[in-house]
Amino acid sequence: MWIYLNNRFVKDEEAVISVFDHGFLYGDGVYETLRSYGPRIFMRDQHLSRLFRSAEAIGLTIPIPLKEWADILHEAMARNDIGTDRRDAYLRITVSRGTGDIGLDPSLCPSPTVVMMAKPLVPPASHLYETGASVIIASTKRNLPSALSPQIKAINFLNNILAKREAIAVGAFDSILLNWEEHLTECTISNLFFVTNGILRTPALECGLLDGITRGIVIQLAGELQIPVEEGHYPADQLRRADECFLTNTTMEIMPVTRVGHTPVGGGKPGRITQRLREQFIAARERFFEPAGST
Ligand code: PDD
Repeated sequence: MWIYLNNRFVKDEEAVISVFDHGFLYGDGVYETLRSYGPRIFMRDQHLSRLFRSAEAIGLTIPIPLKEWADILHEAMARNDIGTDRRDAYLRITVSRGTGDIGLDPSLCPSPTVVMMAKPLVPPASHLYETGASVIIASTKRNLPSALSPQIKAINFLNNILAKREAIAVGAFDSILLNWEEHLTECTISNLFFVTNGILRTPALECGLLDGITRGIVIQLAGELQIPVEEGHYPADQLRRADECFLTNTTMEIMPVTRVGHTPVGGGKPGRITQRLREQFIAARERFFEPAGST
């Protein structure tokens, strides 16, 4: 596998970073996950902008200008022979504070470490889209937004990893995290939606969750389908009483949820509005790529 490291492509065995990297020592850095459908990268510019916003929020200057990233992503796909007509790509850009002496002061690190990997995308098992996934409500709470903004896609994922461990321990697909007020936020790597009385509901950003790019598309598509959408503050009980539920992110798209803890959702089958949105997501996908040849 070819990996982009700092300013060039190297083979994966040469793609090594220092034990003094502050990403390793302190989780000091940001990342972004993108995907392609065949050769085309989905919402490419939106993901790149979010990466730069995350970096800016922690005072980290990405040493490669925004306009050069499209070429790097496409070159990574070409070198690894993915992003071809049959092979979708999983793309991850990680930028850490870089290598420096031990200590929290970012100025100890003269230059950030930049890593970009491209590998074949492995979507969740297809049966999950037919049966729906089971999730639990984790006892681990989502980080307080005033302690760490959820809009910073930080490489420190410990909060979410602890919640994921809870899900794994009981054989669930994932965990939903509540916030400091016991209100729903999101899952460990995805946003949360549910339907009650024909209204599509999703936790508001101020509950403390990432402004997911797929979440934004789903809200837009629901508007186009004239499905009423509400962003609000919801206690977990509302979810247990929901008619439908689903999760969204870049790699899984729209994943139906049919069980929350011991409670089946919507009779234990993926719901009608969930299916409509999935179909519309696939039908509308063309609109969410950059024009051919744009870099
Ligand atoms: N995760 N919430 C969290 C905490 C996430 O990490 C993600 C993305 C999302 C969904 O965002 P988007 O629709 O922009 O992918 C919500 C990616 C997939 C990851 O961690 O790899």
